Amino acid sequence: MKRILSLIMLFSPAMVIAEPASNIAWTPDALNFVKQGNSEKGKQLASSCMGCHGEKGISSMDNFPSLAGQLATYTYKQLRDYADGKRMHVLMNSVAEGLSEQDSADLAVWFESLPEAQNKVKMQKLEKAEILVAKGNGKKIIPPCFTCHGGNGQGEKQDIPALAGQQIEYFVNTLTEYKTGARHNDVYSRMRLISEQLSEEDIKQLAQYYYQLRK
Ligand code: HEC
Ligand code: HEC
Repeated sequence: MKRILSLIMLFSPAMVIAEPASNIAWTPDALNFVKQGNSEKGKQLASSCMGCHGEKGISSMDNFPSLAGQLATYTYKQLRDYADGKRMHVLMNSVAEGLSEQDSADLAVWFESLPEAQNKVKMQKLEKAEILVAKGNGKKIIPPCFTCHGGNGQGEKQDIPALAGQQIEYFVNTLTEYKTGARHNDVYSRMRLISEQLSEEDIKQLAQYYYQLRK
């Protein structure tokens, strides 16, 4: 009887426990740990990142993200998510597996201290993007981007990244990955639910909009 019961429990849908999107939970201890990262050590470790993310954390390759000026807590979470396999990418999984929690905090604090990209391009008219950022879309249940990412794309503690100045192709890739579920390390599925509702054209315009924005 006991065996039958445990078999039933094993196959009952209620027993399927959803995998958490991330192992990082922002407790006061975790926040403190990142805040106390050693920027000097981070700077030394960052020499191995420069080839891809740019000498000053500003990438020169369109599909590689810039890291300069990003919130330390966000960068830390991404590095741990790559290390834990919660966010998948061939290059970054192997990079992050080689980093300790302390290394990740040191790097995160160093990149936060660098000035973000100042992309000098002519402001295009990006009507769809402007509406989505400021007003969202009530019919499709898309909240305005600014309510989380800030009016200047500056991000918001602890886990909402800055978007201002981000590389266009990376931005498109990552939103598309949330949309298909290939990227699923967003706690509460916040970005998956939103990007499911965005068209290809919306995503393209949003990427251009944030690329030319300054914090
Ligand atoms: C061989 C190239 C390469 C190297 C070296 C590399 N990265 Fe990356 N990194 C990438 C690519 C490509 C992505 C985008 C991956 C994706 O789409 O998930 C990325 C993504 C990231 C992200 C996520 C950014 C975001 O906005 O979510 C962080 C954080 C990061 N890298 C940090 C680092 C750090 C720190 C180092 C050095 C210890 C490093 N990377 C070394 C190529 C590289
Ligand atoms: C409810 C809050 C919320 C709203 C509204 C929101 N976001 Fe996000 N966004 C987040 C969070 C949280 C993350 C980080 C999730 C993670 O850890 O992967 C994120 C991540 C992102 C990223 C990935 C950044 C990177 O460096 O990889 C992009 C791009 C993005 N959001 C764009 C948008 C756009 C465009 C909109 C409006 C259409 C929007 N977001 C609306 C909360 C929000």
